[in-house]
Amino acid sequence: MLNLSKEGLILLLHNNYGIIIVAVLAIGITSLLWKAWGSSNPTDHEDGIPGRLGLPFIGESFSFFLAAYTTKGAYDFVRKRRKRYGKWFKTRILGKTHVYVPSVEGAKTILANDFVHFNKSYVKSMADATGAMSVFSVPHKIHTRIRRLLSDPFSMSSLSKFVGKFDKMLCERLDKLEKSGKSFKVIDFSLKITFDAILSMLMSVTEDPLLAQIEKDCTDVSNSMLSIPLMIPGMRYYKGMKGREKLNETFGGMIARRKSGEEYFDDFLQSMVERDSFPEDEKLSDQEIIDNLITLILAGQTTTASAMMWCVKFLSENKKVLDRLREEQLSIDRKKPDGALLTMEDLNDMSYGFKVVKETLRMANVLVWLPRVANDDCIIDGVKVKKGWMVNVDATCIHYDPDVYKDPTEFNPSRFDDIQKPYSFLPFGAGPRTCLGINMAKVAMLVFVHRMTRGYKWSLDDPDSCLEKKEHIPRLRSGCPITLMALNKGK
Ligand code: HEM
Repeated sequence: MLNLSKEGLILLLHNNYGIIIVAVLAIGITSLLWKAWGSSNPTDHEDGIPGRLGLPFIGESFSFFLAAYTTKGAYDFVRKRRKRYGKWFKTRILGKTHVYVPSVEGAKTILANDFVHFNKSYVKSMADATGAMSVFSVPHKIHTRIRRLLSDPFSMSSLSKFVGKFDKMLCERLDKLEKSGKSFKVIDFSLKITFDAILSMLMSVTEDPLLAQIEKDCTDVSNSMLSIPLMIPGMRYYKGMKGREKLNETFGGMIARRKSGEEYFDDFLQSMVERDSFPEDEKLSDQEIIDNLITLILAGQTTTASAMMWCVKFLSENKKVLDRLREEQLSIDRKKPDGALLTMEDLNDMSYGFKVVKETLRMANVLVWLPRVANDDCIIDGVKVKKGWMVNVDATCIHYDPDVYKDPTEFNPSRFDDIQKPYSFLPFGAGPRTCLGINMAKVAMLVFVHRMTRGYKWSLDDPDSCLEKKEHIPRLRSGCPITLMALNKGK
């Protein structure tokens, strides 16, 4: 029997404030509207797409948000409906009709026509988290300018410097963890190191108190991305918006100090500030810089960190792949002087390592679907879609389609010996909005894979496969705890 003290009950209510409000609102409003609606509204498929639109505006919003509160993750909402209705289905979330597009052909139609027949559109909480001037949200013309101006840290020369810096950081931290002999959660480790590496590259922040403050504010913003957009104190959305205000202040202060000459660093922020006297088309405003700094941190940290965590999980469960990968990494290591850091040339020699990274990204589906809105009535892979509908490119469904990837649940990097059909491999999206950090993510993953397999063996300390609740990017509830053991270096 549940036996709770008064304090225990208060704590339980406090910790679950958000979900309790959502549940009470859900039950109350739904039953009122259900009565007002009169009879039940069965599946609605006059337009040929099965699915349930439900009540006006509300539709299936509560099921959608509540799915994120389970250990099966937000994608379970899609999985259940696909089981019920088949590959194509529609639903209604917060007043918008959504169709989940399950095919390579559909992905091609949408992503190759980005900005023309389709536009990116996020649920309100996601758009609010990154800001109005984020490369995620701005219209086409501004997007082209911002994307061009943001590309410098991802050039080959910047990334070559990044390889060495990231490798050094990684070697020091892994060495410390191995010497401690303690179990640690890969996700905590990878979130911290990717955050520190991105902050150092973008704006040379390396001191702990400032890093910790920015990390806390960014975490609040990131947590608000899949939340109910209501400014109620204590709820995720509210905390996220407060986090954004603080980041505005912190980054605004840095920009002002750089502009006045009080501070100088050779980094991305400096290169942005130095464009201040350039023509409008060749620079970013202060708000554009701030919103895009937040965007780069949010877009780069949790994605790369989750991918690293999944890579450890998949390798732990696939010994043959791990052995082959280690063999490749040790052979690269043998050619290098003792203690030398990795270079871009070394990464180019990691052909199996690269396939392991690709297979990790196929199976992990860091961004489970890519949301767009249809600008006109159109036909996607033979299915009629109306203007204003959300068409979500379902990368997860494509990556697990047995007609596209044979034995899709098997972790088999060698499947990438063959060239993939265009639009069938979508971990970084495709078209004009392809991930800006694609090369940085690949570099970080390869360095990580190298240091882990060349330097260590590890035990997976919790095999639980449940997902963490309320995360918009899937990660393990356990955080993937491991214990490192130094490997005989084999030189
Ligand atoms: C494994 C790691 C990563 C994955 C799986 C990933 C995935 C993606 C995907 C799928 C998109 C396209 C979204 C869409 O079309 O709706 C995207 C866009 C983007 N990513 Fe990444 N990403 C990763 C790492 C990074 C990193 C390290 C950065 C930067 C530090 C970054 C910055 C961006 C930006 C700025 C965009 C928006 C591009 C635009 O709209 O033009 N990403 N990412």
